[in-house]
Amino acid sequence: MTVTTAAPNQARSPKVQAWLDDRSSDSLLIGGRWVPAKSGKTFETVNPTTEQVLGAVAEAGPEDVDAAVAAARAAFESGPWPQMAPGERARLLRNLAGLMEENLDELAELETLDNGMTIGTAQAFVQVAIESIYYYAGAVQQVFGSTAPSAPGNFNYILRQPLGVVGAIIPWNAPLTAASWKIGPALAAGNTMILKPAESTPLTAIRLGELITEAGFPPGVFNLLTGFGPEVGAPMANHYGINKLTFTGSVGTGRGILEASARTNLKRVTLELGGKSPNIIFPDADMDAAIANSLAGFATITGQVCVAGTRLFVQRDVKDEVVDALTGAADSLTMGDPLDPATTMGPLANKAQFERVQSYFEVGKAEGAVAKAGGETLDRPGYFVRPTVFDGVENSMRIAQEEIFGPVVSVIPFSDEYDAVLQGNDTTYGLAAAVWTRDVSRAHTVARQIQAGTVWINTYLQLDPTMPFGGFKESGLGREFGPDWYQHFTEEKAVFLKL
Ligand code: NAI
Ligand code: MG
Repeated sequence: MTVTTAAPNQARSPKVQAWLDDRSSDSLLIGGRWVPAKSGKTFETVNPTTEQVLGAVAEAGPEDVDAAVAAARAAFESGPWPQMAPGERARLLRNLAGLMEENLDELAELETLDNGMTIGTAQAFVQVAIESIYYYAGAVQQVFGSTAPSAPGNFNYILRQPLGVVGAIIPWNAPLTAASWKIGPALAAGNTMILKPAESTPLTAIRLGELITEAGFPPGVFNLLTGFGPEVGAPMANHYGINKLTFTGSVGTGRGILEASARTNLKRVTLELGGKSPNIIFPDADMDAAIANSLAGFATITGQVCVAGTRLFVQRDVKDEVVDALTGAADSLTMGDPLDPATTMGPLANKAQFERVQSYFEVGKAEGAVAKAGGETLDRPGYFVRPTVFDGVENSMRIAQEEIFGPVVSVIPFSDEYDAVLQGNDTTYGLAAAVWTRDVSRAHTVARQIQAGTVWINTYLQLDPTMPFGGFKESGLGREFGPDWYQHFTEEKAVFLKL
């Protein structure tokens, strides 16, 4: 394990540092104007690498939610937006993607400063975000309605129309990518929207708001509210003026959002929640690829990934060999300043998460699991924890059942294919899974039997806007992306015409 020295609380790029120095705390974008919170309150976002303040942002409250909803509603009903042809919306989305490309390095650096992910990972995730905006720009003009097989005296057809105002609430683990995955389809389908980034990582959403304005979207089409869950997220979930709420985050908060919808206007709700994804290695796998991807599967973004492969099932005969190799790989990661290209793992994104992951180190040890690698924090400033490989884990233990959301993997042995599937499915979650084997039949058989929204065969962490994404069981509700993306951001309308 290499640990590099303390990091400065500064951007490396003068452009990013100038942006940080010059920006105002008026970070609410409402109806095309940057404004402070009506209460005048602000809060600070911290650099998790240094534990020092990066900047202050507006702390929105329910009255700002009302203002943003009014602006989004006006833009949906009477602005230039509803008059635009799909091709014009496509052009604006392409403008945005182009601007993101021009600013890729700056966006990535800002993400690293606010979230702590390594700069290489941040660049890769910004690229994923850009690709998804281009995908939706292309998809705008590929949405066709249909005509029904009606009698000769009728001409019946089915329209798909935008929902209205979409609220998007996102977490702090991959902020810019999560934002783009909501913005792309919501705007492509012709809705207007309000984005609430997480309180510990608001900066790239603010920069994205600037780029959306620069791209030429009409005022009120995209609104941004920085603030906390109870004061901004909950009023959005309860708002009668919001037609759909798309949420990514924890199961508990997701439940509250669904309840709020049921109590109020039955707004459409998509929930993308947590996971405890099984990653299954059979003895005939390409072991080098399996080990490298299993490490990435639980350590990318310091393990703060909803699809992280945190339950590693290994066939009993090769279990010790895999544990040794994975421990060696985990110990060879370089932790330190995530802006240093040599760093391969950064800190956790915020203090609450740091404390949470630490508490699970104790839970695991108390349950009798053995930390072959890690199991402790780093003695330096910043929210650093060591990549942790727990051996001697049973699937019923808390460390194997509860989402830790840190670089912690539980290795669990299995006897045969049946046992792997049985244990793999023994969880309340069902977001993702992977299977490593050279046996084609076994790969497809396991893929069918695993209860998860995404299954990877001989790969991990691949995401693509052309593939539907969402969870089985308590990992979520509904799907986004994929060929039917517009179904989640439009209403269907049956039109009957008597000839
Ligand atoms: P969280 O679900 O509370 O936060 C996610 C977003 O929801 C943030 O923008 C937050 O401000 C907002 N929010 C909080 N309370 C809300 C409310 N009552 N109504 C509406 N919005 C609200 O997650 P948190 O507390 O930051 O993390 C706790 C755990 O949740 C993590 O340790 C992890 O296990 C899980 N998590 C899973 C994520 C995923 O991608 N599946 C992402 C973030 C957290
Ligand atoms: Mg931060």
